Amino acid sequence: MQVKLAESYGFCFGVKRAIRMAESHEGSVTFGPLIHNPQEIDRLKQGFNVGLADSLDEIKDNSEVVIRTHGITKTDLNILKSKTDKVVDATCPFVTKPQEICAQMSSYGYDIVIFGDENHPEVKGVKSYATTKVVVVLKPEELLGAELGDKVAVVSQTTRKASEFLAIVNFLIPRHKETRVFNTICNATGDNQDAARELAKEVDIMIIVGGKHSSNTKQLLDICKSICDNSYLIETEQDLELTWFENKKICGVTAGASTPDWVIDAVYKKIKEI
Ligand code: F3S
Repeated sequence: MQVKLAESYGFCFGVKRAIRMAESHEGSVTFGPLIHNPQEIDRLKQGFNVGLADSLDEIKDNSEVVIRTHGITKTDLNILKSKTDKVVDATCPFVTKPQEICAQMSSYGYDIVIFGDENHPEVKGVKSYATTKVVVVLKPEELLGAELGDKVAVVSQTTRKASEFLAIVNFLIPRHKETRVFNTICNATGDNQDAARELAKEVDIMIIVGGKHSSNTKQLLDICKSICDNSYLIETEQDLELTWFENKKICGVTAGASTPDWVIDAVYKKIKEI
């Protein structure tokens, strides 16, 4: 059996970076879960004594605190800094960027439009950096009656679709004297999907590793299934079934954005044995 890994799979750059930072600060606590993967959080706890604080109240004075990839609000950051000067900022640079844009464009007098989900921690953090009027929308219709000024700057939540961002931009341009557009969409999810699509064309069987409830993992399964009938979603190597591999020569492997490398490695090894 030949086993091929997708060109891009699993954890994105921002998550890998945050994990490395947490690992190099043994005994620290993260403010909120560092990433959405309980096994990985547990591994950091067991191997590196990295704890988890769900609120600022749980953070002891002078402790070492790692900020999660989604970032936090400016107010929370200030409170955190008043409790400790040992803050390790693992906010993904792709999230820091729209935070900085909001602060800067506000200082130039632009009102801010954020395309995203206003309940998402990333968006709450980005929004907190605006000092002029700021609105968060998912659809252009939500901008009706927003009463924004002549000068508007628009950013996107990192995980949104470009086509939907464009709809917001198209709505704003004819209605304002000046619209500054900042494409802050991150391509990590799209890169994993493109790579899975390419690999599925070359193989007899595709294995997608990830949480059964993870939406980006299910998207990968759908993409692979539309190209390769023999596509299967598994959580660990124990879910692999021998019959899937009968008369198959090439197996492709990809993984969702919240699947740790060590889970993928175990699957890879097991398929090689088969
Ligand atoms: Fe990951 Fe950062 Fe993009 S955390 S999904 S690389 S915004």
